[in-house]
Amino acid sequence: MEATARAHTNIALIKYWGKKDTALKTPLMSSLSMTLDAFYTDTTFIHDSNLTEDSFYLNKIKQNDNNSERVFNYIHHLQKLFNLKGHFTIYSTNHVPTSAGLASSASAFAALATAFAKSYQLDLSLTDLSRLARSGSGSATRSIFGGFVKWIKGNDQTSIAVPIDQNPDWDLHMLAVEVNTGVKKISSSKGMIQAQTSPFYLPWLERNDEEITMMENAIKSKNFTKLGELAELSANEMHATNLTATPSFTYFEPQTLKLIKLIQELRSQGIECYYTIDAGPNVKILAQKNNLSAISSAVHTLLDNVKIVDASFGPGVKFLD
Ligand code: ADP
Ligand code: DP6
Ligand code: CO
Repeated sequence: MEATARAHTNIALIKYWGKKDTALKTPLMSSLSMTLDAFYTDTTFIHDSNLTEDSFYLNKIKQNDNNSERVFNYIHHLQKLFNLKGHFTIYSTNHVPTSAGLASSASAFAALATAFAKSYQLDLSLTDLSRLARSGSGSATRSIFGGFVKWIKGNDQTSIAVPIDQNPDWDLHMLAVEVNTGVKKISSSKGMIQAQTSPFYLPWLERNDEEITMMENAIKSKNFTKLGELAELSANEMHATNLTATPSFTYFEPQTLKLIKLIQELRSQGIECYYTIDAGPNVKILAQKNNLSAISSAVHTLLDNVKIVDASFGPGVKFLD
């Protein structure tokens, strides 16, 4: 009747930015991510025959119809899939800014799919859960597993997440620089549709298999330089499709660009670090442990008022009782 799950967010090193099927959320490309320890969502799903309506509480606040629509449609879709009925209540808490390009939809739908499945005592594997999470938000597919995770392109059946290394023995960090945690104007779902009008979209897609293979090799050989260069390239390719879309758009803000330049400058000084940026203005800096404090002080010197969250590898989804 009731179950609670925790899922951590993940940030893609090779980006997902486009769907083959909008309803099923099957992707046009494979992607590869790092699950983070510092950001997560806790979600309780309750179904009870005494309930007279569906409700969704986010961070203790009851959400209106507009803000609940996506979640309600998702649960109705799952209920249909498993031949289930009945009203439900969802309580969710984001330990991550919502709709700001810090991947709240990834942890949110991974936690929701998992809590839903347990509350109905569905006997599902983690692979099944990754497929279920996918139909809520594409990036949620990968948050079922910890560490490095690949989400393979394919059809509804075959497009699932595969753990590459759930507990990497590597002091790799991601510093999340929170430039602006306000709600983005263009959701990820909308942005990735618009990006497909870019003349660079198809050429980017053609490179996907090769970029995934190169990233997997960088991970296997613990080659930080290769991993960082590829991650930065994938993010730049994605943001280039936004800038060259019709109409053109960007998630970058002035501080985003200042940080890009700072990271380039730090690299030229021998402080090795790379950036990745998602559908929002916030910048995530990839670095190894020995350089974290130098990078943080440089960011604080450049921008007074930004919060930096130090994240490393996080675990896969789990139940909270
Ligand atoms: P983000 O960059 O945060 O992933 P998206 O545009 O991909 O932003 O997704 C934001 C949407 O995800 C929200 O509008 C909401 O529908 C959904 N979402 C975020 N957090 C939760 C949550 N805890 N439970 C359910 N849905 C959520
Ligand atoms: C830029 O998974 O949030 O973060 O599938 O429409 O819910 P929907 O989109 P979402 O898109 C994430 C895009 C990205 C890159 C990535 O996570 O791979
Ligand atoms: Co998202």
